Parts: sequence; C-alpha cells; structure tokens
Amino acid sequence: MSTYLRILSFVKPYWKYIIISIAFSILYAILSGASIYLMIPLLDTLFQESTSTQVELENSSLDGASVAIPDWLINVKEDFVLWFNNYILSGDKVDILTNICILIILAFLLKNIFGYLQAYFMAHVEFGAMRDLRDKAYIHLNKLSLSYFKKEKVGNLISKFTNDINIVQSSISATFSNLIKEPLTILVFFGIAFSISWELTILAIFIVPVSTLIIVWIGKILKKQTSIIQSKLADITSILQESISGVKVVKAFGMERFENKKFMKETNNYFILALKIIRIRNSSSPITEIISVIIGAVIIYFGGLLVLKEGTLSASQFMGFLFAIFQMMPPIKALGGVNNRIQEASAAAERIFEIMDTEPDIRNKDGSVEFTEFIKSIEFENVSFNYEETEDAILTNISFIVKRGEIIALVGPSGGGKSTLVDLIPRFYDPTKGVIKIDDIDIRELKLDSLRGKMGIVTQDTFLFDGSIKENIAYGLDDCPLEKIVQAAKTANAHEFILDASEGYDTIVGERGVKLSGGQKQRLTIARALLKDPEIMIFDEATSALDNESEILVQQAIERLMVNRTTFVIAHRLSTIRNATKILVIDNGRIVQKGTHNELINDVKGLYKKLYELQFRD
Ligand SMILES: Nc1ncnc2c1ncn2[C@@H]1O[C@H](COP(=O)(O)OP(=O)(O)OP(=O)(O)O)[C@@H](O)[C@H]1O
Ligand SMILES: [Mg+2]
Repeated sequence: MSTYLRILSFVKPYWKYIIISIAFSILYAILSGASIYLMIPLLDTLFQESTSTQVELENSSLDGASVAIPDWLINVKEDFVLWFNNYILSGDKVDILTNICILIILAFLLKNIFGYLQAYFMAHVEFGAMRDLRDKAYIHLNKLSLSYFKKEKVGNLISKFTNDINIVQSSISATFSNLIKEPLTILVFFGIAFSISWELTILAIFIVPVSTLIIVWIGKILKKQTSIIQSKLADITSILQESISGVKVVKAFGMERFENKKFMKETNNYFILALKIIRIRNSSSPITEIISVIIGAVIIYFGGLLVLKEGTLSASQFMGFLFAIFQMMPPIKALGGVNNRIQEASAAAERIFEIMDTEPDIRNKDGSVEFTEFIKSIEFENVSFNYEETEDAILTNISFIVKRGEIIALVGPSGGGKSTLVDLIPRFYDPTKGVIKIDDIDIRELKLDSLRGKMGIVTQDTFLFDGSIKENIAYGLDDCPLEKIVQAAKTANAHEFILDASEGYDTIVGERGVKLSGGQKQRLTIARALLKDPEIMIFDEATSALDNESEILVQQAIERLMVNRTTFVIAHRLSTIRNATKILVIDNGRIVQKGTHNELINDVKGLYKKLYELQFRD
C-alpha cells in the first residue's frame, strides 16, 4: 500500500484537475440516477389503466428510515415531485410519453457529456503524473554511477521505463476514474433503491462483503504473478537487445539457430505465465458476476413477494428498484477490478522506484569544493581497486605522479587494468584503497561536475548519438558557433570527409544516420574532445586496426590533441609512445616498469622490450 501512496504523490500536483473531474463525476452519477428514476413514471404511463399517473414517491416505504433524512432534503424532494407532476405528467398519456422520452434523451445526453469531461480531466492527471514519474526516474538514472549500469541488464532497464510505467499509467487511469466515479454511481443508485424499498436494499447489502473478500484474495495472487511476468518480459527484451547489437557476431558464428532457441524458450515461458495470469484475472470477473446474480435472484424473489403478496410495492416501483440494483453491478464489478489494478500498479511501480531508491555510489561529498584550475600535478598514492568486493584486486598499489603538461603513456598486455586505471581519474569508480590527488587535494573532495568538466575523454569504443555531425561534435555545448566546430573538425582531420557527406555538417549520424568507418568515427570523437578544450585529456586509443591512410590521419589528430595538455594515453601505436614524457608498463594490475622509451627499451629482460617487439613495431 505504501508503494501506491507513493504513486499518488505523483498525482498530487494535479489536484485541481482531480477536483474538476470529481465535479463532473458527481453530475454524471446524478444523471445516471435520474435516467433510472424516469423509468418508473414511464412504466406507469405505459402499463397502468388510470389516466392520472402520479409519481408515488411520497408513499414509498420510507417511513422506517425517515428519521435519518433531514427535513430540507424532504422539502426539496417534495418540491421536485410537485414540479414533476405538474409539468411532465400533465396532459393525456401520449403527451406524458413524449415528455418522458424527451427527458430521457436529455438525461442520457448530459450524462454522457459529463462522463466525457470527467474522463478528459482525469486523463490529464494520469498522463501528467506518469510524465513526471518517467522524468524523475530518468533524471535519477543519469545520476547513477557506472557500476550500476554494469550490474543492471539494459533490457531490464528499458522494460522498466516502457512496460512498467505503462502498467502504472493504465492502472492509475482505471483506479482513479473508478475510485471516484463508480462509488458515486453506486451511492446514487443505492439512494434510489433505498428510497424505493429499504428492506430490500438492506437485504442486498448483506451479501456484498462476501464478494469483496474474494476479490481481495484474487488481487493478492495477481500481484505476485504480474511481477514475475514483467521480469520475463525484461528477459525477452534483453535477448532481443543483445542479438540486435551483436548481429554481426551472431551471423559470423552461424548462431542464428542457437539465438532463436534461446529466444523461443523465453517467449514460451512468457506464454505459459501469461496464460496463468489471464486465468486468474478472468476467473475474477465470473466469480464476481455469479455472486451478483445470486444477489439478484434473492432480491427478485423477496421483492416479488412484496409486490404479489403484501402489495406494499407497485410493480413499476419494483422495476425501478431492480434497474437501480442492476445498474449498481457494473460499478461494483469495476471496483472489484480496482484492487487488482492497484496490486499490478504497485508491483510495476516498485520496479521503477527501485531505480529511484538506488543511491549513486559516486556523488558529491558534503562540503566538496569547486575544481577551478589545474596547476601542478596529478598523483596516485598506493591506489588499489576491484570492481566487486568478492573478487581479487584489478589494480594493486599504483603510485605515480604526472606533472601538468606531461604525456603519460600506459602500455601493457590486454586485461592488465589500463582502462580501469584511467577510469578512476574522472571518478567513474573510486579506489578501494589509496587516494588520487589533483594539486594535493583528494579528488573525492572536488565537485564531480567541475572535476569532469576539466577532462576530455576519448574511449576505446567510439559512440555517436543520433543527431547531426555538428551536434555530435558540439555534444554538451550549447550554442557553439559553427566556425569553432569546423575548426575542431579540421584539427581532427575530419573536415574533409564531413564535407564529402551528403549534407556536410548537418548529415545525420548514429543509429539511424549514415554509417562511418572506424577511423572516421574516431576522428569525430577526437574533434568532440578538442572542442571541449579540456586541460586534462584521457585517451584510450582504439585497438581496432585502421588502414594506413586512416591511421596517419588519426595519428596526426591525436598529436594535435595532446598539445598543451596533460594527457593520459593508453597507447597501442609506437608513434604515440614516442611522444610520451613517461611510460608506465602495466601488467596484472601493477606498474612493472616506469620510464622513457629509451630507458625502457634498453632493459632487455623487461616486459616493455617484449611488447615493443611484438606489438609496437611499425
Ligand atoms: N565492469 C567490470 N566489472 C568487473 N571486472 C571488470 C570490469 N571491467 C573490467 N574488468 C576486469 O578488469 C581487468 C582489467 O580490465 P581493463 O579493461 O582495465 O584492461 P585493459 O588493460 O584496458 O585491457 P585492453 O588493453 O584489452 O583494453 C580485466 O581482468 C577485466 O576482466
Ligand atoms: Mg582497455
């Protein structure tokens, strides 16, 4: 229930719309009641012999309950009956029939207009609340640290933002309309039924609680099943997402059949569960319906006795009573469904709130300071790191100093920990032991934005957003003049191929745009970093082989990028290494050698010499 209250907190800002919607609900309910009331004089007109067809409301068996009804209400009712008798029920039978028919049309027309308005204003509330929920969850998601994204499956996250939010939305719409409109409708019909025959009405409400209990019970089962079925759907999304992004690998290895089987297994699991949940949900309505019919039959029996034997109720009144009671059934059934919906919504909402309740591992400390200017040095002091508490250290006792303006090259065998090491500098992760200091301040004392703002990062895998080349280069910069973008592209050796593209700088790249070669993508990301003009540059050189010409162009771009900056570069090319002020050789999470190219190459037993001979020879 607390989850549901939390959903409601998103609805709260829309209270004005809720009030308007409630007002229309009230009008709707009153008119629904009126359209039933009109049946009584209609039936009298059609079936009674006598010419004067007076509404006999006053004589109805209210006597037993009249104590509870305030005087003014009785006066209003008497005035209304008087008016009704004088204007509607005057003239001959055909006149009365015409009047009543016109009234019935009017009542139904107004009822539907009010119903429409009620639904419209309620929709504003639901969709608005869901927009806010989605936005809030997304904003929080963007605050979360990298470690969260490594743990969560992408498919799972996507499913939370699409399926789960949709479930919450549809349930809110159902519950809110139902919880306001249906109880009001029930109340009105109950009032009508009660005013016609309180004995019969009391008989009816004795049987209702039983059905309610059954409905609550079914709701509980449903909640559990829905949560399982949502995670199954997430599994399907996951597989789909994996095989789409890995389509080349799947085809190259001829794994289509394997992937198909994996997929079909999940869809079948979903199928079985879906059937189960539908079985439960669908048995919920028949059960309520059968219960309703039993109530109906019992009432018809006793009501029939009142009409036939006792004569305290006229046939038309009894018909009116039955109409009222039967009109109560759909809203009662809808109310029964409300509980299921609340349960479903709660289950879905819990999964969304899970995102919002995850505290980011990496965040600003209290009293953290702005990082305004990089003056002196970056220092690693005995830094150790592991991704999971349970696993062995990925980095062990890393210590070194980089002075402002230096180029530090990291080399070493694959999996040694180079990318992990540079990820610690912008605080994608925090060291498990030791400190990283910039100008003698622990970077955990610096404001995250200001720290990352000073850094340019080009990663091993280039990523382009769906958008134009221009937007991709100027990512994160508002209103960047085109000349600056062109300048950066020129420095990154990207200008030429951009001009060759169909729409130049406005050409769309990314998922839905033109396809660029590996080297072209790299040069675009280098241009992006250049435009940001960071003081500290982190460059994870792509390992993918480029053709000679492309290689030279990229190399030139990298060299220009490093000018006048402090650069960390994970190097796979000899030319990059030659430019370095200092080289760190990383193996198995440790610094095994440190020095310049010339120093290291002379250590014949060292790892660097071996790597140089295997990897770096141009
Ligand atoms: N998110 C992660 N969770 C757990 N372990 C990880 C994660 N990322 C990397 N590792 C592990 O950390 C170790 C170092 O990886 P890292 O990516 O830093 O190596 P690298 O030196 O950059 O290799 P390469 O030259 O191939 O890029 C590897 O053993 C890898 O399996
Ligand atoms: Mg790496």
